[in-house]
Amino acid sequence: CKGINGLEKVVLREARGSSAEVYLFGGHVTSWKNDHGEELLFISNKAIFKPPKPIRGGIPICFPQFSNHGSLEQHGFARNRFWSIDTNPPPFPTNSPTKTFVDLILKSTEEDMKIWPHSFEFRLRVTLGPSGDLMLTSRIRNNNTDGKPFTFTFAYHTYFSVSDISEVRVEGLETLDYLDNLQNKQRFTEQGDAITFESEVDKIYLSTPTKIAILDHEKKRTFVIRKDGLPDAVVWNPWDKKAKAMADFGDDEYKHMLCVEAAAVEKPITLKPGEEWRGRQELSAVPSSYCSGQ
Ligand code: BG6
Repeated sequence: CKGINGLEKVVLREARGSSAEVYLFGGHVTSWKNDHGEELLFISNKAIFKPPKPIRGGIPICFPQFSNHGSLEQHGFARNRFWSIDTNPPPFPTNSPTKTFVDLILKSTEEDMKIWPHSFEFRLRVTLGPSGDLMLTSRIRNNNTDGKPFTFTFAYHTYFSVSDISEVRVEGLETLDYLDNLQNKQRFTEQGDAITFESEVDKIYLSTPTKIAILDHEKKRTFVIRKDGLPDAVVWNPWDKKAKAMADFGDDEYKHMLCVEAAAVEKPITLKPGEEWRGRQELSAVPSSYCSGQ
């Protein structure tokens, strides 16, 4: 159906009431609601749904380059291309737990090949599970006919909605090494405590566990991120100064969002012609009391 500014979107709904919305522009998940209709992702009130500007919030796909780690535009081009619905996807190795999913596809165009000279097929399956979990599975294939491999970095740039950033903590990243984007990508080691927030953060945690939790004390909600094929995790909050500098982001909105992004950045992925890479992120939102002691 039609979304903002007439852009096409797909809405997924589960029987118990959860839902998700995916825009074909960017292959971009813009909404994920639980059984009670509460929005779990952050979308800026100032988000501009106008190509080629990527949508601020939700889950932009960063491919074939994360951030400015390379010579392409920031976060690559997949997030501002028009994807298609893939009506005939090859079978997925793990069956989706429900029929509530959509398959999208992005293929390299001649225009894209001028900036990134490789032929690729990117298949994205977005699935809403029976209990409202949101799964994103990406399959990227090298279709080069010149025998050349290609290399890329990747992130599911997920903006979570939180009640108050200063009450939030992230568990699963303590004691890990990270690259600090605010300090020339230098490498540091995190201390032993759960991560909390009191200023701008832009870090790439390396070789992270497959499960990371975001505890929202005030909302009594825990987001659990499970990931596969994506060793790194980016944590980003622009805080007040950078928030003011972004045209498509409200001055105070940094208080109500946190990006935790399943990613492959430190060790770029290389595919030979005919090879396929798979990367999966699964999100669930559970009441905090349910999680205590885990
Ligand atoms: C994060 C990066 O993933 O995305 C930050 O680590 C960047 O450095 C942020 O500022 C937002 O990027 P953009 O291009 O969507 O404004």
